[in-house]
Amino acid sequence: MTAQSCLCLFLLLLVAFHSTVIKANIVLPSPLCRPVLASTKENFQFAVNLHIYKAELFLRSVLGRGIKDISPGLVEGPAPIGATLANVDDDRTKKFIEESGLASIGHIRAIADMTLLKTPLPMPQLDLSPPVFAKFFETLNVTFEPPFNTYANTNSFLFAAVYASDFLKLFYAGILPSIVGNPERELAAGIALYEAASYGVFRSLLNDRANLPVLPYTFTVANATNLTAQVANQLGGCGVKDEGLTVPLPLGAENRTTSNVIAADVNSLVYARTAREILRTVFITGDATRPGGLFPHGFDGTLYERILALKQS
Ligand SMILES: *[C@@H]1O[C@H](CO)[C@@H](O)[C@H](O)[C@H]1NC(C)=O
Ligand SMILES: *[C@@H]1O[C@H](CO)[C@@H](O)[C@H](O)[C@H]1NC(C)=O
Ligand SMILES: *[C@@H]1O[C@H](CO)[C@@H](O)[C@H](O)[C@H]1NC(C)=O
Ligand SMILES: *[C@@H]1O[C@H](CO)[C@@H](O)[C@H](O)[C@H]1NC(C)=O
Repeated sequence: MTAQSCLCLFLLLLVAFHSTVIKANIVLPSPLCRPVLASTKENFQFAVNLHIYKAELFLRSVLGRGIKDISPGLVEGPAPIGATLANVDDDRTKKFIEESGLASIGHIRAIADMTLLKTPLPMPQLDLSPPVFAKFFETLNVTFEPPFNTYANTNSFLFAAVYASDFLKLFYAGILPSIVGNPERELAAGIALYEAASYGVFRSLLNDRANLPVLPYTFTVANATNLTAQVANQLGGCGVKDEGLTVPLPLGAENRTTSNVIAADVNSLVYARTAREILRTVFITGDATRPGGLFPHGFDGTLYERILALKQS
């Protein structure tokens, strides 16, 4: 081999090596899974919609009061449609729903202070009526007789509760790496850790009840976590990011357990979802540009407006 052909081969190998490295590292997400570019402030503004949803659902369900009653001047907008007291007869569960709902008010205030968003913050129209929660199951063509009522008892309300925290945990997990500014990063991390903890508490409460029926039906809490995980995965798209409380070994931590209190990926890292994936889920339309479900008039904020303008379904 001449020196020249040797160099040539070396360069060729170098190019080949480089392209495999590039292929291995840059896996482009499918168009449906690509994030829409947003500033740190826009991401917080988007999150406020989810914080307001959680606070209103929790506080109205256990106290019969909303954010405006507890922290006047923080938010302004229409009262949620169909909010009602939930029949949560387990005191520990009820106390934590109240605590976590109140915490959301602090989170909203901290975001307003940090981003200098003008208070009162606009409040999106929410629809918290029982048929909206029942509608999630229609995604799988499952209907219950009588229709599913999330407010009926502790077990059925825990499903609404765990997702209110999960949406926030998933969204913050997605935006954390791109948050600009130290105080902003600290705020996002502080909220993300709180929501992960809150998610863990609700999943743990569900796990304690895994073998109990979700009355008035015969299926169990464990069965229902399977079903709601399928609903969330189908609506959000972009792979399996939600799992039941019991999973086949290949989905369990280190492929060694079927116990799955915390849904997480192959290395047990929490899943992340983009704004579009969250919108598809909370709208129950599977389309980030078609509002409905829990947010019949869509979200407030410029990230949502851009998603609409760019038709990023
Ligand atoms: C539900 O039913 C519709 C209409 O029959 C069908 O298009 C859709 O694929 C079904 N979805 C599931 C998850 O079975
Ligand atoms: C509920 O879970 C049990 C235990 O895994 C299973 O045998 C049963 O078929 C499930 N029922 C429904 C309705 O999914
Ligand atoms: C549903 O639960 C059963 C055990 O009860 C489990 O084997 C199965 O994999 C679960 N499915 C999902 C999607 O989590
Ligand atoms: C567990 O199984 C999955 C495939 O199901 C694999 O990708 C992963 O490497 C396995 N993890 C361990 C620790 O063996």
